[in-house]
Parts: sequence; C-alpha cells; structure tokens
Amino acid sequence: MRLMTGLRLTPRFALLIIAGIVVSSVILARYAEDVFEQAMLEQTKKQAVIFLRDLEEELQRVPAADADELQRLIVDAGRHIHDTYDFSVYQIYAVAADGDYLAHSDPDASRVPKDMSGYLGEVLRTGLPYMGGAVEWKSVGDTGKISPVIDIVIPLRHRGVSLGILEVEIDVDETLATIKSLDDRFEREIVAGGLVTFAIMLAFLLWVVQRGLIRPIRHLADVTQRISRGEIGARATLRGADELGELGASVNDMADSIERLLDEQERAYIESLQSLAKALEAKDAYTSSHSGRVAKYAVLLGRQAGLSPEELRLLKQGSMMHDLGKIGIPDAILNKPSALDEREYEIMQGHPEATYAIMKPLTRFRQFAEIARWHHERWDGKGYPDGLAGDDIPLLARIVAIADTWDAMTGDRVYRKGMPIEKALSIMEKERNDGQWDPQLLDLFIGMIRGEQDARAEVEEDLFPDAANDAARG
Ligand SMILES: [Fe+2]
Repeated sequence: MRLMTGLRLTPRFALLIIAGIVVSSVILARYAEDVFEQAMLEQTKKQAVIFLRDLEEELQRVPAADADELQRLIVDAGRHIHDTYDFSVYQIYAVAADGDYLAHSDPDASRVPKDMSGYLGEVLRTGLPYMGGAVEWKSVGDTGKISPVIDIVIPLRHRGVSLGILEVEIDVDETLATIKSLDDRFEREIVAGGLVTFAIMLAFLLWVVQRGLIRPIRHLADVTQRISRGEIGARATLRGADELGELGASVNDMADSIERLLDEQERAYIESLQSLAKALEAKDAYTSSHSGRVAKYAVLLGRQAGLSPEELRLLKQGSMMHDLGKIGIPDAILNKPSALDEREYEIMQGHPEATYAIMKPLTRFRQFAEIARWHHERWDGKGYPDGLAGDDIPLLARIVAIADTWDAMTGDRVYRKGMPIEKALSIMEKERNDGQWDPQLLDLFIGMIRGEQDARAEVEEDLFPDAANDAARG
C-alpha cells in the first residue's frame, strides 16, 4: 500500500477497480469453464444415447438379427461417429442377455463374456437406458492403460424382440479435448465481450467516483486552503444529507466560528485603537480633530472616485486612525508652536511606520495599514517612508494624502489660522503637475471643493443678497 501513497485518488481508484475486475474475471472465467465443461459432458451423454438409438434403428432394416450385419453396422458407426458427433469413443459393442458379445467395434478385441449383474442387467430388466454415472477409470480394450471412461447403455431390440444391450464407452480425455477446443472459442468470445463490458463499467465507475467523490473532496480542500490563507468568507457549496454534505456543513460551521472569533478579536483590537486615539486626543487635540476632517474629505473624494460603500467605510475608519502612531512622539515635538528642526522633523516622519505597526495585526483590514504607512508618499516617488510612486501607492492612501494636505492647509492651528479656501485651491491647482498628488484624484477633489463653494455662494446670495452685492463691489 505504501506504493500507492503518492498517487492521487482517481488513478488509485482506477487501479483498485481494475485489480478487482481482473481478479473477479479470472474467478468467473474458471467457474464458467467448469460449468460449461460439465454441461457439455452431460450433453455428450445424451448424444451418445441418440447415437445408440440411431444404430439400433439401422439394425431394424435387416430382416433377421443378422450377427454379421450387426458387426458391420457397429464398425461402420464407430468409423463415422465424428461426422455427426463431437464425442470420441473407445469401443462400441452389443452383448446378449447372457453376457456373450454379439458384435464389437474392434473385431480383434477379447470376447470374454460380460458380467450382466450390474447396470447392464438393470438396463435389460427395465428397458431404460443407462446414462453413465461418474467417470470411471478403467482399462480399455487390451491396451492395459487405465483411462477415464463413461459408459452409455441402451437395451437392444430387433423388431420388438430383446437381443441384449448396446453399449458405447466414451473416451473422456478425447471428448474433453474436443470440448476444450469449443470452450476456448467460447472463452475468447466471452473475454472479448467481457473486456468491452468492463471498459464501459470502469469508465462509468470512474465517472461516478470523479463526480460523486473526487470533485467534492477537491472543492472542500480548496475551501479549507482558502480559509487558511485568510480568505475567511470562503464557504463550501456542498449540499445534501449524505456524508459529503455533512462534511461541507462542518467546514462551513468551522469557518463561521473562525470568522466570529476573528470579528470579536478585531473588534476588541479596534476598540483598543479607539482608546489609543482618545489618549492621543488628550496629548494632541489638533491631530484628533484633524483626523476627523481628513476622514470627511477623504470620504467625499472617495465617493467622487466611485468607491464602493465597503471601501468608503474602510476609508473613513482608516483616515480616523491614520496618524495614530503620533502617540509615540514627544509632546515637545508634537505641540511645538514653531518650526521643527531637522532631528525633530525626522522623528515626526517616523509616524507613518509607527501607525503601520499598530495597524498591521488587523489582517482583514490591510487598507488601514496601507493608509497609515503611505499617506505621506508622493505621486512622483519623492515622499516617505518608502518612496512609492504612481499607482504603486494604494488608492485609499492617495486619497488620504490629498485630504490630509488639504486640511493641513485650511485647518486652524493653535499658532496660526487656516489658509482661505480660495488660496488653498489655487496652490493645489498650481501644483497639480508638480508631482505631489495623483493628478486625476486632485482634479476630482478641486472640482468637488469648487462645486461646494459655488453652491454655498448661491445659497448666500439667496439669503443675503445685499451682503453678496457689497462683497462684489469689494
Ligand atoms: Fe500623517
């Protein structure tokens, strides 16, 4: 069986089925051969009775029971037996009721009177043929050789007068050889027919095994592998009340449990991140409110970019936490009202990686980690920490980069007022092709802010027409 361990299931089943078919065919062929030979031997006995009856009938044509004519007929019958019959004989003879030979197919055979006490006497008494019992092993003729023989005897009558018996000794060896030659032909036909049947059976069995067993097992293996690779939503589609259906349901139950556990674990982790965000809020009030506004702008831009509701949800949460790593930055640097020196700036630049390290355990929310790590990358590859460029920067991180800078420009700081929207917009337009941002996203963003501005101006004009007029006059 160790040889089979490297085989896949289909060839393994095929080998087992072929082995089973070969073994059962050999047994069946042996059995069929025995049955066939036995049946043919029984048939031969009946043929021998018919042969003897024909011989007896021939004798009826002779006017009187002519011993010479009987002798001639028997010799002639022995010579021509193969013209009509498949069996072979050692000798044919007619014996009178007292045991004396009336005629013999071998004129030179010894004529010692026969013992009429056994089945020969029985045939005489009853007038019924003796069909031969089991094969007898006896010396045939004068050769002295012991051979298998079957005796067939009928009562011999001539025109209603009983003359004695007529007996034929069948040569079992020769007859079996003839039967075997017939048998071989029969066997070849059986084997040819059997092979075709077995080939169809094998193909059908393999098809059933493939469809009913291999395919469902492969499906289950695929589902469990996908789950183990983290594709936690993968489920088996096997249905039904059979064992495979049960196995499919068990795999799905297991996946449900894993998903529940992961949900709970991740919810707990996100809750702890939210606590961390609160701690950061206490330490750095600006980052907290800034993150909220970044989330708002990012979601608005994400909607313009055609993101799905699920992506927008991730974008919102990821934006809220995108600067969480700042918790590790000393207060003196974080809240420094003046410009940072080189060393301080370097420390500050470490916050994307610090945030990434916090987000990384959320394997099902890799977008959080991507936003955290790459929201300071630039479209031209000159950003930090990895210098990614163009489409290599994940889309959500590119969106947050724009929203983040926008709020940095327009939001108020403790030490300075935010820039007017118009000014911020003109900076962005001017720098459109300078390589900081994804130009297509930037166009969408500028268009969105402009649209918002125009809408607001329209509302203001409707509500306060004089003020709008004054403003227009400068
Ligand atoms: Fe940041």
